[in-house]
Amino acid sequence: MKVNNLITIDGVSGVGKGTLAKSLALELSYNILDSGNLYRLVGLISKRISSENSNKIQKELESKTVTMKLHDPEKLVEVFYGTENVTEELRTEEVAMLASFLAKHISIREILKKYQRDYFDSEVGLVADGRDMGTMIFPQAKWKFFLTASLEERAKRRFEQLKEIGLEVNMPTLVDNIRKRDKLDTKRDISPAVPAEDALTIDTSDLSAGELKNRVLKIIRT
Ligand code: C5P
Repeated sequence: MKVNNLITIDGVSGVGKGTLAKSLALELSYNILDSGNLYRLVGLISKRISSENSNKIQKELESKTVTMKLHDPEKLVEVFYGTENVTEELRTEEVAMLASFLAKHISIREILKKYQRDYFDSEVGLVADGRDMGTMIFPQAKWKFFLTASLEERAKRRFEQLKEIGLEVNMPTLVDNIRKRDKLDTKRDISPAVPAEDALTIDTSDLSAGELKNRVLKIIRT
């Protein structure tokens, strides 16, 4: 049975998943799961404890509650690890690369599976964004979208996002990092970023955030 109030949005980085997920969640009053943030948190923990051991990472992760708050579609989903607001630290390129590296490991993916599934409350509804939301985490979702965009457009968007929160990056490094992360995310054996069989693929290169949101809402409502 397909679940009606469950929307998954997958794709590689910079294709517009986050912006779409936030605007849909606010429009439909659904909860939001930015699963990339959980992988980034694992990356941050690994950096802090200087270890890539999944048991150690799990122990640290479970020692505090993780909460995500969405107030404003223009802003990042806020992430609290215990009482600490780690939102901006999670956005650094170093943490993103660590997240991608650790995301290859089945042990890490298994730890995060339960965290992710717990976000779905059938009374409220959920918009989940990531790489494997439609394939592995919520295969029962009725609405599955897989977003793509050109590398050039994605780098431009990422550059703007990082600049907005005051993080300095240069374009060639950014493009290089995106390529490396794409390779890690699409070529890995477990849960690669690929569309689910029943997902609708949308190229967002030439769509504004508003146009994309309207297109998706139209599909869901008709
Ligand atoms: O989406 P975001 O760029 O924040 O994700 C950071 C990293 O976490 C990705 O590059 C990817 O390797 C990993 N990730 C994943 N599966 C998800 C979400 C993110 O492997 N569902």
